[in-house]
Amino acid sequence: MNHSHLDHDAVSRRGFFQLTLGWLAGAFAAAATGAAGVRFLVPNVLFEPGQRFKAGKPDDYPDGSITFLEDERVFLVRHGNTFRCLSSVCTHLGCTVNRTSNGYHCPCHGSVFNNQGNVVSGPAPRALNWFMVTLSKDNRLLVDKGQDVSEEKYLVI
Ligand code: FES
Repeated sequence: MNHSHLDHDAVSRRGFFQLTLGWLAGAFAAAATGAAGVRFLVPNVLFEPGQRFKAGKPDDYPDGSITFLEDERVFLVRHGNTFRCLSSVCTHLGCTVNRTSNGYHCPCHGSVFNNQGNVVSGPAPRALNWFMVTLSKDNRLLVDKGQDVSEEKYLVI
């Protein structure tokens, strides 16, 4: 009698665990689906890894220089002790723009931008993006391509 009572207990306890695990799995699945849904709705750029990169020491860039950093697709612009970072990604369809004597030119469909990155002639619909530049603790330029800033916001060292 006692024995069968214990067996019954063991079975129902196992049943309870199975139910609990099943419920948890369901909850995780729902959470994952929910997260995937949210992930889908939010612009991709927020989740892209590697938005921040170190661009070397300030003195790697001569005064008055505009340096194309090919891997990161940006121009590092130094004037005196100020540092800015301009995206080289054309706002039309994403080609890489080239530096010209007085601005930037997109080889794909001919958009022209001035030194400030503003559109001089289309089809590009918007100015090139400026990115946040700060100085890391070890005195390296730190660019955050996830953070757009206006051209007036720049690093002074
Ligand atoms: S991608 Fe630059 S003009 Fe079309």
